[in-house]
Amino acid sequence: MAFDFRRQAEYWKSHMVQWRRQLHQHPELGFQEWETARLIATVLAEAGLEVQTGIAGTGVVGVLQGKKKGRGIAVRADMDALPITEKTNLPFASTRPGVMHACGHDAHVAIALGAARLLAEVRSELAGTVKFIFQPAEESPPGGAVAMLRAGVLDNPPVQAIVALHVNPHLPVGTVGLKEGVAMAAVDTFTLTIRGRGGHSAAPHQAVDAILVAAVAVQALQAIASRLTNPLDPVVVSVGTIHGGTKNNVVADEVVLTGTTRTLSPEVRQQLPKLMRQLLDGVVRAYGASYELDYREAYPPLVNDARLLALVEKSCRRVVGSEHTLRVHLPAMGSEDFAYFAQVLPAAHFDLGVGKARATNYPWHHPCFDLDEEALPIGASLFAQICWDYLSNPP
Ligand code: NI
Repeated sequence: MAFDFRRQAEYWKSHMVQWRRQLHQHPELGFQEWETARLIATVLAEAGLEVQTGIAGTGVVGVLQGKKKGRGIAVRADMDALPITEKTNLPFASTRPGVMHACGHDAHVAIALGAARLLAEVRSELAGTVKFIFQPAEESPPGGAVAMLRAGVLDNPPVQAIVALHVNPHLPVGTVGLKEGVAMAAVDTFTLTIRGRGGHSAAPHQAVDAILVAAVAVQALQAIASRLTNPLDPVVVSVGTIHGGTKNNVVADEVVLTGTTRTLSPEVRQQLPKLMRQLLDGVVRAYGASYELDYREAYPPLVNDARLLALVEKSCRRVVGSEHTLRVHLPAMGSEDFAYFAQVLPAAHFDLGVGKARATNYPWHHPCFDLDEEALPIGASLFAQICWDYLSNPP
């Protein structure tokens, strides 16, 4: 029996829009998604799913048991917002200064809830289990995925595959982007402290200026991508914050920089802290300063399973058509803690187009980030179709 999830999703569209806007107005940072979790638990319970809350803090799991026996598949959504002050002027803009759903995780929740409602309607025909996993704190390593895995969310009942999506404002609404193999980069973080010696700005020769050393260090780090690693093996080193100094006529004795690195291959990832130290040893000492580098591994690269992705691609073609199901050839240097799920199970992560037909679609993490809500029913029908196809015909 085949179901027209796309048509059914139109019925649920107004609900999804309402859930998304409610979350958008009341965004919560990682591991603080208590109101978000309450809304999720309520909707899942209304759909007749078995609901577990309080997993790894704010995590929620809903289990939909089909009336027929079969395998299990999980749908994963992240729930957290970002420390950004919204500037969209939308009628449903964030009511919390300094907190905003600027990465679309509000839409991820609404879409997964919509999929739960769609699949609950076909429960009597469903062969197996669909598990809906709502995880906290995707944006802040170590992230919520690891904690959910440790809590055993893939067991009892077990699942054999897992899927997730991320909204993409650079793809037009109605399209889907799929990437086989390594789809997203590994991310690591670092804190670099540069120590000089304070003094009077009029007599810099009697001091060691940590600001000058920091400026040279930031530039030197860019040589890793341009000169010290193979240009065909991508690497990004970005300094995101820099803090130092107290007054215009005082030589700063300390500057603290934080940043992130992105890599695709384990070899380059492993080399990075060594290469950073090699450069810093030279430039920092040349100016008579010292440094401390605290380098931390965060999320691994996200690897999509080829067989599962082929199934997902077929399902996407059914829902949005072949011409709107796009194969992406280059991985993204963004990262995702969904990668941890993909380390233990065949996993498929895909991009859902949410771009509006207008000149500017703001990127993720921008204070004006917004999405086309027409994508909500499309995303929900995609998840429903993928789960249905997987359980009807496991790869
Ligand atoms: Ni995100």
